[in-house]
Amino acid sequence: MNAMNPVRPSVIPTAPGRVPGLGHVIPVFRDPLEFLTSLQGLGPIVKIYLGPMPLYVTTSPEAIHRMLVTDAAKFSKGRLFDNAKVVFGDSLLTASTTRHRDQRRLIQPAFHREQVVRLAGRLHQHMVSRIEGWQEGSSLDFVSEMHSLGIEAVVPTLFAAEHSAEVTAKIHHAVPVIAQGLVRRVLFPDFVLALPLRANRTFVAAADELRDAFGDIVGAHHAGHDADGDLISTLNSAVGPGSGVRLSDSQVRDQAVSILLAASETVATTMSWLFHELARHPEIRERFYAEVDEVLGGSPCGYADFPKLVYVEQVLRETLRLHTPNWILTRSATVAVDFDGVLLPEGAEVLYSLSALHRDPALYPDPQVFDPDRWGPDREIPSRTAYIPFGSGAHKCIGDSFAWAEMMIGACTIASRWRLDHTPGTRVGQSRKLATLQPTGLHLRPTAITRHRRESRPA
Ligand code: HEM
Repeated sequence: MNAMNPVRPSVIPTAPGRVPGLGHVIPVFRDPLEFLTSLQGLGPIVKIYLGPMPLYVTTSPEAIHRMLVTDAAKFSKGRLFDNAKVVFGDSLLTASTTRHRDQRRLIQPAFHREQVVRLAGRLHQHMVSRIEGWQEGSSLDFVSEMHSLGIEAVVPTLFAAEHSAEVTAKIHHAVPVIAQGLVRRVLFPDFVLALPLRANRTFVAAADELRDAFGDIVGAHHAGHDADGDLISTLNSAVGPGSGVRLSDSQVRDQAVSILLAASETVATTMSWLFHELARHPEIRERFYAEVDEVLGGSPCGYADFPKLVYVEQVLRETLRLHTPNWILTRSATVAVDFDGVLLPEGAEVLYSLSALHRDPALYPDPQVFDPDRWGPDREIPSRTAYIPFGSGAHKCIGDSFAWAEMMIGACTIASRWRLDHTPGTRVGQSRKLATLQPTGLHLRPTAITRHRRESRPA
């Protein structure tokens, strides 16, 4: 801080509606995203209270960029990740500064472009069998379907070793339980998380289950099922920079668990919203399906097709804007940080919401409207700091290209075979209790695409 021009933390405005003793607990628990979105425009940093606990929310693209990129070295990962070490262990998701940099160097080769191109082929093959198994006219519980599809495609694609049905069952069971518990880890005070409550015990048990399952997968690699170039073999053969030491089995397991959790919720959530929006907007769906048909003509979607799928990409981008999966993320200031005259105190626990950023009317006109043409070639694209569904800086999503490949291939594979409409009576809401913003009550009815074409042809 400049002694001639002292700037005090008090210049950070407190969000309106603070109740003595409770702080902002009521709006936070009633609708946390609406509350966080309402803070946009109050200032680049806004203070809120959960009971007596102060939390700071960075709202503007500039403040978020400073925290994630320019002054990233002054922040650790914060509450979400510190309180979830029981699941993520010491891994890319929880590490900061040099530990993080060293781990990222070890893992990065598994996500290089050539590797993703290679994996994309496997993804299609694993998706097709599940998608082809859908029944005409049935009602799919679509979020859970996308979860299962994601796990069934990602686990063999990224972690390649053969594994038993028991391991698969453990993964399917544990992932949603952990996803459900993560938000409590951010919003509940530490003493509540330490109580022997059922929710806390269930969370820890699911963490153990998932770590067990991945212990088995790592073991299977040692037993000779190592597949060339998959993530676990990359980690098994990686040598620590400087140290020359290989990762232990438990370190490999922690990285794999973290990557699976980072990969599965986010993609399943995005795919669910995508097909909800397509079902809600028949004119967008027609354009989307027409492009898939024109580009692929019934052939499997591969990496080389992506540049031709221009409208599909626009629709996905818009889905990631309006329904950004990571709606709440955290950092912790390890020293005081000067945000252009506003001083964030040392030790400040910071929240930021990519969803709130992407719904800011100052950045996106009519932000609640689903409009893929925002991303059209003739439109002005928002600045790079205003659209960051994969984060930014040193912690930017390591799996972003893999995620694009998975979503492009998944979306096109589904759209080549099925039209999906809301099952009559479906009422879609938005869950506020999960680490990713998922639709609730989303039931979709598949109709085989050949029949759709015949029906939709003009008489
Ligand atoms: C729609 C899909 C996805 C979205 C929107 C997404 C979003 C994000 C975001 C916002 C971050 C930064 C978190 C932070 O800074 O605190 C992140 C980090 C991460 N993501 Fe993703 N992600 C997606 C899919 C994936 C996939 C498919 C994988 C792996 C296969 C993955 C692995 C990771 C990992 C390991 C990190 C931590 C990176 C680091 O700290 O160095 N994600 N992701």
